Amino acid sequence: MEQSYPDDYVRIFDTTLRDGEQSPGCTMNVDEKIAVARQLERLKVDVIEAGFAASSPGDFEAVRKVAEVVTDPIVLSLSRTREEDIDQALRAVEKARHPGIHIFIATSDIHLRYKLAMTREDVLSAATWAVARAKQHLDYIEFSCEDASRSDWDFMAKVCTEVIRAGARVINLPDTTGHAIPEEFGEMFSYIRHNVDGSDRVIWSAHCHNDLGLAVANSLAAIRNGARQVECTINGIGERAGNTSMEEVVMALKTRRDLMQVRCGVDSRQIYPASRLVSQIIGQPVPPNKPIVGDNAFAHEAGIHQDGVLKNKLTYEIMRPEDIGIPSNKLVLGKHSGRHAFINRLRELGIDPDTIDVQRAFAAFKALCDKKKIVYDDDILALANEESRQAADAFELVDVVVRSSTRTEPHAEVIMRVEGEERQAESTGDGMVDACYKAIYRITGLSPALERYSVKAITGGTDALGEVSCLVRENGMTVAGQGAHSDIVMASALALVNALNRLKARKGVSHELRREGP
Ligand code: KIV
Ligand code: ZN
Repeated sequence: MEQSYPDDYVRIFDTTLRDGEQSPGCTMNVDEKIAVARQLERLKVDVIEAGFAASSPGDFEAVRKVAEVVTDPIVLSLSRTREEDIDQALRAVEKARHPGIHIFIATSDIHLRYKLAMTREDVLSAATWAVARAKQHLDYIEFSCEDASRSDWDFMAKVCTEVIRAGARVINLPDTTGHAIPEEFGEMFSYIRHNVDGSDRVIWSAHCHNDLGLAVANSLAAIRNGARQVECTINGIGERAGNTSMEEVVMALKTRRDLMQVRCGVDSRQIYPASRLVSQIIGQPVPPNKPIVGDNAFAHEAGIHQDGVLKNKLTYEIMRPEDIGIPSNKLVLGKHSGRHAFINRLRELGIDPDTIDVQRAFAAFKALCDKKKIVYDDDILALANEESRQAADAFELVDVVVRSSTRTEPHAEVIMRVEGEERQAESTGDGMVDACYKAIYRITGLSPALERYSVKAITGGTDALGEVSCLVRENGMTVAGQGAHSDIVMASALALVNALNRLKARKGVSHELRREGP
């Protein structure tokens, strides 16, 4: 597979499924990873880092499945310089149309001394050996000097020269700790590119973390100094403060093409659906002030701004919401709309109807039309996401009946289907949601600690769909859940059931379900 790129083309390398997924509370199961990979393909990213195959059987499986379902992007697995890692990575990507492997080892003295206990010579030979070994099986090899921004530039140049000689096609210089400042990071790229033999035979890549809030700025500085690949994640999720945010770097390139003089192939209208999808899956709402995809990114509050925008959008808007795929929130469909129109709208919102139970989503949409006067695009997105969550789950919520008054203790009766069998439990609690959660715990026999619970109204009004996100933890395992419903107790129950389904799937064992309460 030989792909060549024009000099002004910056490749977008998405690592949501690897570096993004690595951060606490951002874990995804295989089906969720496939849904994200499909959306990344619609976004037209150039490279998908699907996981770290050797890190766990689950990661191996996810990389293998993503490699199978994705057609256009290159699919990579991360790998250390160890033989067993390389073999696992090669096996995981073997079905990919464009397979690749991403090998890394740290090059900074801090990492060599305290983490690896290796000398510079050891690292040089491990890196060269690993690239040469992978090259016997696969042409597309990316090599990363982990902690590049704190490494000795001359040593790093030596490592890069040798791995290029061994066959690396892409060299990545990460700011692993988010320590770099843009001028310095740009200068590092310039120095290394000019001091490495064979530099013009490889694509230079930047991979930044956001500890000082500079990941996007550092990535742009690298591009201005010759990098032609940026590694990033949807919504900027990732280790600690996260990685370079895909939507920010892509829109910076598109909006400031006049200055940057480069372009990328991402279809920006797929950005918002991608952001929503990832946020729903990991159960982390996008902060309202998040650039590009936050709820307030295009909201003008100050009167003087509103006046300007009404006269001409150019006064205060540097990007158009429609270019990012932000739904116009117009009245899209109503009670009388047919299935065909509903499916069309799903497609426009970036949802592949084949990935959800359209029949059920359509029925839920009709039910919502009966309850709500106005159904917005965001409501439809929430319904569709609810459907995609419920596919193939062990626990299914059938009904919730709650009772509460100022004189009696809140009480909930919950009916669920557990692996096909209907079960019922009741409980009182400290509020209706608490009562409902206790009843769910009784039915499922699972009772993880509830670490986070938040409610958000998706669209305005008391009849709005409410979206609940929760985070539960058991035995060091943290999983998120989401639910959307016009009844907030029901949305809360759906969110918990979603989290418990994930917890159960993650445990990977058939849980012994208790019929009676604890
Ligand atoms: O941040 C980092 O250095 C990484 C490498 C493995 C590329 O994620
Ligand atoms: Zn990283």
